[in-house]
Amino acid sequence: MAGRIPQDFIDELIARADIIDVVGSRVQLKKAGREYKACCPFHDEKTPSFTVSPEKGFYHCFGCGAHGTALGFLMDYERLDFVEAVEELAQLLGLDVPREASAETRSPVAPVLEIMGAAAKLYQQALREHPMAVDYLKGRGIDGERARDFGIGYAPAGWDFLLQRLGDGDDRRRLLQAGGLITAREGGGFYDRFRDRIMFPIRDGRGRTVAFGGRVLGDGEPKYLNSPETAVFHKGRELYGLYEARRATRRLESVLVVEGYLDVVSLACHGVHNAVATLGTATTTEHLKRVFRATPEVVFCFDGDRAGRDAAWRALQNTLAEMREGRQVRFLFLPDGEDPDSLIRSEGAAAFQARLSTALPLSDYLLKELKNRADTTTTEGMARLAELARPLLSQLPPGVYRELLTDRVASEVKIGRDRLAALVGDSAAPAPRPPRRPGAAPAPGRPSLVRRAIQILLHHPAAARQAEVPRGLGNARQRGVSLLQELLALLAQHPELGSAAVLERFRGRSEGPHLEKLLAEELLIGPDAAAQEFADCLLRLAERGRKDRLNELVQKAEAGALSDAEREELRGIRPGSADPEPGSDAGA
Ligand code: UTP
Ligand code: MN
Repeated sequence: MAGRIPQDFIDELIARADIIDVVGSRVQLKKAGREYKACCPFHDEKTPSFTVSPEKGFYHCFGCGAHGTALGFLMDYERLDFVEAVEELAQLLGLDVPREASAETRSPVAPVLEIMGAAAKLYQQALREHPMAVDYLKGRGIDGERARDFGIGYAPAGWDFLLQRLGDGDDRRRLLQAGGLITAREGGGFYDRFRDRIMFPIRDGRGRTVAFGGRVLGDGEPKYLNSPETAVFHKGRELYGLYEARRATRRLESVLVVEGYLDVVSLACHGVHNAVATLGTATTTEHLKRVFRATPEVVFCFDGDRAGRDAAWRALQNTLAEMREGRQVRFLFLPDGEDPDSLIRSEGAAAFQARLSTALPLSDYLLKELKNRADTTTTEGMARLAELARPLLSQLPPGVYRELLTDRVASEVKIGRDRLAALVGDSAAPAPRPPRRPGAAPAPGRPSLVRRAIQILLHHPAAARQAEVPRGLGNARQRGVSLLQELLALLAQHPELGSAAVLERFRGRSEGPHLEKLLAEELLIGPDAAAQEFADCLLRLAERGRKDRLNELVQKAEAGALSDAEREELRGIRPGSADPEPGSDAGA
């Protein structure tokens, strides 16, 4: 596999790409002022609320909250991963995608993938040569054709099946180790990780084997042994069966998320080809993003027991941030002691499908759970329900779906939609600050000034770039100041970056979605006003920084803990201040 794509190239792609071209060749756009409008391709609607801004290089749907850059659009619309989207856009512009060839990025990923593939083949071949393994699969209702589809194999007993066949020479052994297929012995040498197990290859989006899950044939421990995290395998990202599901159907209408490897394969044997499994971990947001790239409809399938219910609640929490109109998530709980494999084998495909159709929509499940946790027959209980709902609702991206769900919760607790929306922090309504628990640490300063500065910078990077950065900005203790500083440094180093290119630099970082939201909001000021307001924001922040620092130093002084340098600094900050703040004259 090639090395990393240099960030400069992404900058260039974004700068050169015409988002109107990219979106317009797939969605019929109509010019409306400086923007373009269309009916949103990501959810059903009759009146257009999908807008594309050529200036920002950004699209945004006011209905479902979908938004992103030209690259993001290609990923979501064409269901491509990031690299594929880059390649697609580059091709459109007639550019070759360069790859970094640094020592680190020439990491042996390609050869590791190769040796994983070779191991998968050997395991498959070994399955054919070991009738007891074939019998085990047959006994579990898995037919030969499905076993082939999923590349199921067998790792023979013994310590060196793979070592002998693939492990000649130090280099190859290093690859086997990098892939997690062999383990170093304490006294030197290696041994096979997987022995006497049915092997389920875990494949990435392109069908390359990146890991294995291995099941004992009998009752041994552990029941499943999985590959460790490696350069090519991240448990929280891969889904078992997604590659096979996408291959089985031309367009996936929905995906069923189950818990086990065998559930996936067994369902496929009964004609249910859209099941995927997380790999013994909770469903992560990363998983969800992957699934939603393949289909807008997801059904989570959980055991009816305590562990299953806990897992479902965790899945719900990780799903909220990805919910938008047009996407549907439902929850199915199975009878205690059953899993999808045991159920479909005992009751057949039709009954299983019937069950699926009874799965609870996310909103119903959410309310049901909340009501379990708060007794809504009392006023106190209703307040508690609102309190429980708040952090959940606030994770939903702004849009119709969030409003609908807020409405539902509001009517449940009878507190009035606007109040609840305000509590949840909807930008539409002025938010009364939630009562602070006595004794709780005071929240760091209100983020509004920083938020505003970042928002202006995102909308008008060129204008923001010109602002002089006042000294002492970094002293401000407001949340977000370090992000603002990072953005300023970025623009100083790359003055050519536009809005979308700035966003792309935060792809994959936790701040990314937050920045996207800020850019999606309308700003309604031109570049000149933006430059002025931005400079003003910085000055005010710096002034706060000065005060914050002063307070810090004064406190230190009171404790007699000032260093010489700090004493000097204190002298420097104090005089110039037209600062009427009480307390600042406390003894140094
Ligand atoms: P289960 O214990 O429910 O097994 O684990 P299962 O999928 O029903 O398998 P069978 O039917 O007994 O063969 C569910 C999933 O949890 C992970 C595996 O991904 C498994 O498919 N798991 C379980 C492990 O990783 N290690 C274990 O030891 C057990
Ligand atoms: Mn099972």
